[in-house]
Amino acid sequence: MTMQASIHAVILAAGQGTRMRSALPKVLHPVGGTPMLGRVLAAAQAAGVNHSHLVLGHAAEQVRAWLAAQSGFDAATVVQPQQLGTAHAVQQALPEIPDHALVVVLYGDVPLVTPATIQALIAAAKVGLALVTVEVVQPHGYGRILRDSARRITGIVEERDASAAERAIHEINTGLLAAPAKRLKRWLSKVKNDNAKGEFYLTDVVALAASDGVEVAAVAAASADEVEGVNDPLQLAQAERRLQQQQTAQLQRDGLFLADPARFELRGSLKIGRDVRIDVGCVLEGAVELGDGVVIGPYCVLRNVRLGAGTRVDAHSVLDTAVAGSNCRIGPFARLRPGAQLADEVHIGNFVEIKQSTLGAGAKANHLAYVGDATVGARANIGAGVITCNYDGVDKHPTVIGADAFIGSDSQLIAPVTIGQGAYIAAGSTIVRDVPDQALAVARAREQKIVPDWRARKKDR
Ligand code: UD1
Ligand code: MG
Repeated sequence: MTMQASIHAVILAAGQGTRMRSALPKVLHPVGGTPMLGRVLAAAQAAGVNHSHLVLGHAAEQVRAWLAAQSGFDAATVVQPQQLGTAHAVQQALPEIPDHALVVVLYGDVPLVTPATIQALIAAAKVGLALVTVEVVQPHGYGRILRDSARRITGIVEERDASAAERAIHEINTGLLAAPAKRLKRWLSKVKNDNAKGEFYLTDVVALAASDGVEVAAVAAASADEVEGVNDPLQLAQAERRLQQQQTAQLQRDGLFLADPARFELRGSLKIGRDVRIDVGCVLEGAVELGDGVVIGPYCVLRNVRLGAGTRVDAHSVLDTAVAGSNCRIGPFARLRPGAQLADEVHIGNFVEIKQSTLGAGAKANHLAYVGDATVGARANIGAGVITCNYDGVDKHPTVIGADAFIGSDSQLIAPVTIGQGAYIAAGSTIVRDVPDQALAVARAREQKIVPDWRARKKDR
């Protein structure tokens, strides 16, 4: 067994994010449903980083609160009280990093960086210092990579400090770099702020490494998009589009039939069986699993949902934290709220809301109903306008509906209440007491009365 040096990521996230013009700290703005910082942390971890150090400044408390609510990230935070430059930012984390470690510097506002690029950076840094660079058509605003006649990297010059000739260079610094901790600490201690911005530039370590005779390796980013930073809502939306394009392309290659990839949004993860079809305008969030032959109609929202084979969700349905078995029919205009659990072949029709309820195989609620905190047996039929009155203003109460029960239209079941198997509730009933198996319950305010010739007599008056 060989001893591997531990790998520490330093993730820069102290900037104010002024251009977002938002109360939310920049790095907490989501891309693909995950805060940018979460994406960077996850990419680092997937690349083999053992510990991450977040350098925070503005809104540090909000970012810390977010981090505390996450699980699975091995990350510490350090505050950079004043933003004196990228070198100064990295220095804040260094006391926590052992000399024998390898340090990878990432940006919290570069959300699309991939584990593959971080891995390549880590591998390249074993020789000395490694940078992620990319050739761009429009290098304005970026640090330029300086190379000698043998194409060896000799330094980085920032836009503001660059000569006209240097500004003509199209190879730019993405800001991501890696180096052994001990060397990085030494170089950083020598960085000065005698430049146009009066900041301590992390990029100055490149010239220091080169003058130490240390090899500086460049790792090419997969594309300029991968390493693009986000500074304002426009760039945030551009990062979102790129991510969506990458995700949908991969899903389509994996056999997902999308009516239009440009009108599909995945803000989480999607597992699919064969022959899954999704119409336009759907938004999927959290963890979604769709079995073989599932068909999702247009303009549906699915969040943390698992659907069995052959289940169909028709237009404009909203499903949140719900599970359905196979061959169910849901929608159009259905709403499954958290805790809705449908067995096989359940039908949920238009304007039906199901919350924290289990419906047995073949149960139906086809029109205009509210089913909350209920257990519904197999093949039970819930008529139009039926409501489980589960809330008395203080507490929630359960409703149990037996298998094969028939709940007539416009009935209210005042919980806690149990409707027996095969029981029949007459339409328009308000049920306050349990109904035995196979019984009929009629509970209307007043039975219908007929007044003959009422209309003619009304006219006379
Ligand atoms: C930096 C690089 C530049 C590169 C560009 C890529 C330096 C000197 N320049 O320039 O070569 O082309 O990124 O986008 O490194 N930050 C802190 N604390 C600070 C300063 C910055 O945490 O004191 C963070 C910012 O929040 C940001 C990142 O570091 O996430 C980069 O800082 P920024 O000011 O955007 O650097 P650039 O001038 O763009
Ligand atoms: Mg920048």
